[in-house]
Amino acid sequence: MKNRNKTMFITGVSGLLGNNLAYYFKDSYDVVGQYCSHQVFIRGIKTLRADICSKDSFGEIIAKYEPDVVLHCASLTDIDSCENHKELTKLVNSIGTSHLVQACKSPKIKLVYISTDSVYDGSKGNFKETDKVNSLNYYGVSKAEGEQAVLKKKNSVILRTNIFGWNIQEKYSIAEWILYELLKYRPIKGFKNVYFSSIYTFEFARIVEQILSKELTGIYNCASKTSLSKYEFTCALAKRLHLNHDLIEPIDINDFPFTARRGKNLTMNMDKLSCDLGIELPTIEESLDNFCCDYTQGLADVIKNSQHKDKWYPQLSCIPYGRQSIDDDDIAAVVEVLKSSNLTQGGRVADFEQALSDYTGARFAVAVNSGTSALHIACLAAAIKEGDEVITSPITFVASANCAVYCGAVPVFADIDNMTYNILYVEIERKITERAKAIIPVHFAGQSCDMETISRIVRRAEKKYGHKIFIIEDASHALGSRYKGTNVGSCTYSDMAVMSFHPVKHITTGEGGAVLTNDESLYKKLKQLRSHGITNTPGEFVYNELAFQRSASKNQPLMNPWYYEQVDLGYNYRITNIQCALGLSQLKKLNKFRERRREIVDIYNRAFKSIELIQIPFESEDCDSNFHLYVLLFNFHQIGIQRAQFMNELKARGIQTQVHYIPVHTQPYYQKRFGTGWGDCPNAEEYYQKCLSIPLFPAMTERDIEKVINEITDFARNN
Ligand SMILES: Cc1ncc(COP(=O)(O)O)c(C=O)c1O
Repeated sequence: MKNRNKTMFITGVSGLLGNNLAYYFKDSYDVVGQYCSHQVFIRGIKTLRADICSKDSFGEIIAKYEPDVVLHCASLTDIDSCENHKELTKLVNSIGTSHLVQACKSPKIKLVYISTDSVYDGSKGNFKETDKVNSLNYYGVSKAEGEQAVLKKKNSVILRTNIFGWNIQEKYSIAEWILYELLKYRPIKGFKNVYFSSIYTFEFARIVEQILSKELTGIYNCASKTSLSKYEFTCALAKRLHLNHDLIEPIDINDFPFTARRGKNLTMNMDKLSCDLGIELPTIEESLDNFCCDYTQGLADVIKNSQHKDKWYPQLSCIPYGRQSIDDDDIAAVVEVLKSSNLTQGGRVADFEQALSDYTGARFAVAVNSGTSALHIACLAAAIKEGDEVITSPITFVASANCAVYCGAVPVFADIDNMTYNILYVEIERKITERAKAIIPVHFAGQSCDMETISRIVRRAEKKYGHKIFIIEDASHALGSRYKGTNVGSCTYSDMAVMSFHPVKHITTGEGGAVLTNDESLYKKLKQLRSHGITNTPGEFVYNELAFQRSASKNQPLMNPWYYEQVDLGYNYRITNIQCALGLSQLKKLNKFRERRREIVDIYNRAFKSIELIQIPFESEDCDSNFHLYVLLFNFHQIGIQRAQFMNELKARGIQTQVHYIPVHTQPYYQKRFGTGWGDCPNAEEYYQKCLSIPLFPAMTERDIEKVINEITDFARNN
């Protein structure tokens, strides 16, 4: 229950301890937090900027908020940096503390000063509060000077500690560093001859709460009652979170070139605090247990995501195989259009098209209401008609073939390559006939097809058969991918390229798609087809005498304001202004999304590559994939589990997976209408038996990634 009369002022609220204490005490106090250079926003807490080195700033804050308790956490703590910047260290750690003591003159204010185990010299360990303060480095010296300043204040307590926990900033406490390095499969070193009694910040917070309620004053050691070497600590953490212990190497601190000297045995004796509080203090192992437990329950994410920036919607408990990443900027962009007068057609559509052109390098972009619509109008613009053949891949979403069928053409399925899962160019060569009107290569999972080879085959066939054969890239998976130094979508090797902006894709507009092209006549056709086959562009009219005002001069004819013509049979495939506002905002983040996806893929690859019964994705040298999907091939038969059971078991553990795709030529519609069937494309069919897409999206947290890896490797190894 919140005691509304009590206010707590925390200095250094952007640091690890200050932040975690603020988080802990925010429900029992009105918390005001001070930061200096790193602005932080923490829900439920007032944060304000103040310079600890300025004499008056604390005085003003204390006078304004009249806190009952002041937790003084602000400090420079990087031991080597303190050694190199002694003046600044003195100013912050020592003189800054004196300023605060001055400001907290009133005996009603309880001052808690966070000191350090580094005030001891680390010679013998098990240090008591009565032992000599004799720091080996300037950090410890400056903290000891701070202690001297605090001792002048009556109602104060000094807590010598060493902590680990969840940092709100992009820097890591020791435990976080260990966790994230091991999650990324990076080898780390741990000192085998440095001992400490570190305590988890939230354990520390619980003890501070009791110190406040018992009104203790004076100097206390306040950490875990047992200790470990840093190497043992690293191993203990890895064991609790099932991380790879083999990556940890024990080393001697004497072999490490630190600038500042460090104590080797900084373990502290907790008897005084334990006795005065009448409680047992936690062991370092219990502290680690709680740290790991909070991690698995998501506290790390809550703290790290409590910052306004990079907050993704929605927050989910189950990890899907893919999902959109929407942030507050996206929402603001949509809201702006919602408040405007143009919900459907408006400036954002043209802006989005221009942005797509700029990003990909294609001259023209026509945005539509889905990837499927984009494929359809691309086929119509290519004048595909009854009797034509269109070659595509069987490992794709049905839309890549349906678009040809919409136009009356016959889809022809060319088998896939066993490595890339993309259409096999020799199969195109084998299946291309004089009836071929188009090839629709699909850049499966984000990896571009070998477009140079495909284009060569098509040009050869054009010569042979004497008519144009269109290349329409189905790049629905591949916005942000590259091929031989070109951006996918640039149409360097094709007539048109199609994108989809469905929510699991790289950027989303809700539903949405686009056709890109360098050909102006295709562009004009595509624009008409997306909107009923209608044009209102002068120069495209059939009946100019009806389009223009009779009275107007011949040189400057004025168009009738109502006039439009339907010159073809088109559709309502228009995308809205609202969707394009979202698309524009999303496009700004595409590169960031791409990099994050590749980062996750790297971690996955390292985790799965050595597992015998799993095959990781292959990326060709010519390609730089955006990794729309991460597909693993499992030898389910040898693992001894059926895919359905595997997917269900993973789902029960909060991990959603998907199969991309059932080969299109085996779909009942295609079997019945075109006589295709099992056996037509053996590579695709074998791939289908083994494939499974596991979660991959930019908003995945380190914890999500770790969970997916652990669950999948457990299954692959233990079944
Ligand atoms: C390869 C491929 N082509 C086309 C489409 C159709 O796109 P949309 O869902 O935007 O209509 C998809 C959609 O998943 C796809 O994956």
